[in-house]
Amino acid sequence: MNDDLWVFGYGSIIWRVDFPYLESQPAYIKGWSRRFWQGSTDHRGVPGKPGRVVTLVKQTGDVCRGRAYRVSREHVDKVLTSLDYREKGGYERLALDIYFDEINFTAGVAYHATPLNPNYLGEAPCPVIARQIASAHGPSGSNSEYIQNLYEALQQMSATDLHVDSVFQEVRLIEEKLPAK
Ligand code: SIN
Repeated sequence: MNDDLWVFGYGSIIWRVDFPYLESQPAYIKGWSRRFWQGSTDHRGVPGKPGRVVTLVKQTGDVCRGRAYRVSREHVDKVLTSLDYREKGGYERLALDIYFDEINFTAGVAYHATPLNPNYLGEAPCPVIARQIASAHGPSGSNSEYIQNLYEALQQMSATDLHVDSVFQEVRLIEEKLPAK
């Protein structure tokens, strides 16, 4: 039990879990904000036309809500290897405290992408981020599906994220104006 590993997901790891785990719980981390500031050239975009996916940005006083998974000790190495591969487009492992509530927390890991990685795109106005998301596609599907899945997963957990909400509403507006397929 003590060597089990908690993995915190705040993006696709909330809704696309392709690793074995013993339990999962809604959770949050302190001092970080979720932002669509990471470019994706391997999942939701392609080189030359990257999509935008979420990363963590340091923000004192903020919390980022997501889902935590407890991976049993016997699966830890395999799970980390497969997550390292899945998140290879610029993400690295970050050790951090994962909170279940104000009293209960545990040490764990998350994947985040820093400005030092070549796919990092950084801050942009919401409409600009939304236009990029509305038009990007990659091997894992459309970028628009990514934000829709994230938005719905957060809604299901009653986890408000104003940045995700704003970008999602902008993407919707853009898609409403597109000619029907
Ligand atoms: C995560 O989901 O925790 C990392 C970012 C992503 O893969 O969307």
